[in-house]
Amino acid sequence: AGLCASAFAQAPFPDRTISLIVPFAAGGPTDVVARLIAIPMGKALGQTVIVENVAGAGGTIAATKVARATPNGYTLLIHHMGMSTAPALYKKLAFDPLKDFEYIGQVVEVPMTLIARKDFPPNNFPELKAYLQLNKNKVSIANAGLGAVSHLCGLLFMSQIGVELNTIPYKGTGPAINDLLGGQVDLLCDQTTQTAPMIKDGRVKVYGVTTLKRLASLPNVPTLDEQGMKGFEVSVWHGMYAPKGTPQPALDKITAALQKAMQDPMVKQRMLDASSEIAPQNKITANGLKTLLTSEIAKWDPVIKKSGVYAD
Ligand code: MLT
Repeated sequence: AGLCASAFAQAPFPDRTISLIVPFAAGGPTDVVARLIAIPMGKALGQTVIVENVAGAGGTIAATKVARATPNGYTLLIHHMGMSTAPALYKKLAFDPLKDFEYIGQVVEVPMTLIARKDFPPNNFPELKAYLQLNKNKVSIANAGLGAVSHLCGLLFMSQIGVELNTIPYKGTGPAINDLLGGQVDLLCDQTTQTAPMIKDGRVKVYGVTTLKRLASLPNVPTLDEQGMKGFEVSVWHGMYAPKGTPQPALDKITAALQKAMQDPMVKQRMLDASSEIAPQNKITANGLKTLLTSEIAKWDPVIKKSGVYAD
C-alpha cells in the first residue's frame, strides 16, 4: 500500500485538464491571446488547456479566484497590466499581486488604438477633437470596468483632451466592441489583438495608435502622439500566474510550455498581424514577470492615487 500511495502521490504533472482563467469576457483581447496560446501549451504539456472566462470588476474577480484556488498547477491566470493597477484602484482588494501568486512569465505586449463606430461623424483626429468639444454630453466611451486598460486609456485620453464623456462599462472589450459595431456606443480604446482586423477591413473608424511609433501592421494610422497628444503612450503587457504554493516541478513544466507556445508559428503570425510583441524568452520566466510587475506597481500607484479614481 505504501508503494502504491507514494506512486500515486508522484503521478506526473499534468495528468488532467488545466484551466486557464481569463479575467474578461470571451471574444476580447485577453481571451484572444489565451485561446491562441492554450492550444500549443496543451500540446507541450500533453493535456488540454481549457480557457475559462471569469469576468467582472476589472479583472479582480478572476485574480481573487485564482489566488484562492488549490495550488496544484491545474488553475492558471492570464492577466494584463491591470494586475499592477488593482492595488491602487481597489481599496478592498482580496489578493496581493506580490504575495499570493507564483509567476509563470510575461506573455505579450499589445498596443492600443482609439476607435469609433463606423458612422460616428468625425473622420480624423482633428475633427474628433472639435466634435467632442461641441458634443461631449452626447458622446459615449466604452470600457471593460475599473482597472481595465480600456478604462485607463480612456481616462488618459479624456484628461489630455479636457473633456468628460459618458463612460459605459462592460465585462470586457469583447462585448463593448459588439455594441460599438451595433452603433450603441461611440468610442473605445482597445488593444490591437481585437481591433487591428476590424480596422483593416473598415468595420470601425480609427483615430490613432497609443504607441510613440506607428505600427507596421497599420502603417497608415497616425499615432496619437504625432497628432498633438504629446507623450500619449499605452502598451499593454500580459502575464501568466499560478496560485502561491504551486509545486516547483509543475511551475517549471508550465513555464517551459508557455515558452514553447510563444514560438508557435500560428501564435507568432497572429501577434505580428496585431503588431503585438511576444515577450523575449528570458522574460517568459518567474523572475521576468515578477520584476516587471513590481516596477509597474511602483509606477502606477502614485499616478492612480493622484487621479483620485478608485473603488471603495
Ligand atoms: C479584455 O480582454 O476584454 C480587455 O483586455 C479588457 C481591458 O480593456 O482591459
